[in-house]
Amino acid sequence: MDKLLITGGRPLSGEVRVSGAKNAALPIMCAALLTDQPLELDNVPKLMDVRTMAKLLGLMGVQVGPQADGRLQLQAAQIKDPVAGYELVKTMRASVLVLGPLLARCGRAKVSLPGGCAIGARPVDQHVKGLQGMGAVITVEHGYMNASAKRLKGARIVMDVVTVTGTENLMLAACLAEGTTVLENAAREPEVVDLANCLKAMGARIEGAGTDVIRIEGVGSLSGAKYRVMPDRIESGTYLAATAATSGKLRLTHAAPQTLSATLEKLREAGADIAVTQDSILIEMARRPRAVSLSTAPYPGLATDMQAQFMALDCIASGTGQITETIFENRFMHALELQRLGADISIHDKTAVVKGVERLQGARVMATDLRASASLVVAGLIAQGETLIDRIYHLDRGYEGLEHKLSSLGAKIARVR
Ligand code: UD1
Repeated sequence: MDKLLITGGRPLSGEVRVSGAKNAALPIMCAALLTDQPLELDNVPKLMDVRTMAKLLGLMGVQVGPQADGRLQLQAAQIKDPVAGYELVKTMRASVLVLGPLLARCGRAKVSLPGGCAIGARPVDQHVKGLQGMGAVITVEHGYMNASAKRLKGARIVMDVVTVTGTENLMLAACLAEGTTVLENAAREPEVVDLANCLKAMGARIEGAGTDVIRIEGVGSLSGAKYRVMPDRIESGTYLAATAATSGKLRLTHAAPQTLSATLEKLREAGADIAVTQDSILIEMARRPRAVSLSTAPYPGLATDMQAQFMALDCIASGTGQITETIFENRFMHALELQRLGADISIHDKTAVVKGVERLQGARVMATDLRASASLVVAGLIAQGETLIDRIYHLDRGYEGLEHKLSSLGAKIARVR
């Protein structure tokens, strides 16, 4: 199995182009299920999760074109089999995003329950409850959700927790429902807005995406569209954190700084100089970073997907940072691996207390999930000597061309067997 070998201790320096957002591309690909016309996407990142979604849609009869230069065409002229099987769903929880659109388009769907997850329980009860509110009958048998509805009906749905894919699933379904759906306590993440914009380009009537109340007026049919996926704010944040941690200098191009306010604020607090334009971010860290404390929160708060990378930064910062995780109950797995590199971290329930040390030392570590892997990469770039990261298939799910991009910034990094 592939591993990543990093020889740390060099500041990152140079320019990197941000890829399209994984967490926007996945729901947008599912929007293709809502029309028999082609959906032509641009800025789709080349990632394992995108390939997994393409495979899942392909198995249902969606025609999936080749992915080249960020372009990907999907056409669901007919849906043969509205089924998402366990084999694929278990490898990618976002597969559950097919449930809403399949139900809206075909009147039935069979989708595997995703099961457990390395970072917490992650139930899908809000997806199910919302669709039931729209008239679907959903039963669970042999590990599968069996859903049916003649035609979904618009409804007022108040979500009990803020859920990103839950909001997206219901928004996708509501586009073809009869009447108006109002989603309250909706997620405000930029990826929800990006999906809404794509759906609007397809003819959907949606208002309020980006606020906590989204109104969707159902239409009889949607058309195809051309749509460009937004830049990845978590990939952006990861490179920014890595630059700050290594006291380097970086320009991100093709970025969306307006989606990164909370991250940029924390990096400034750590001592970074940051300048933004409409689509670029310049960061320079001329000193050892100062420790930052943070608490994760739904957007516009600090993303849980950035928590692990900030923890890596705090490991070598001056002072002590307190990092509180409020979204997922088990998202500190990386702390134990960071300790193997010499970090001083103690965990008290939902809070990790990170006392900055002068330097980390390279060691063998193991990636446990996507963003945990990213924090180990950041730590490996800072650590003295060689860090060997095992199970990097997690990184391939979410970071396009990671070694290539980091090498171009002066990092010594290689994929080894
Ligand atoms: C999405 C992102 C993921 C990010 C997360 C939180 C995608 C593909 N993934 O995941 O990268 O870390 O948002 O920003 O966009 N919950 C329930 N019931 C539900 C659904 C969720 O209790 O039906 C809980 C979860 O257990 C969690 C919280 O709500 O504690 C937020 O989860 P959610 O926003 O749904 O995360 P995802 O959409 O799976």
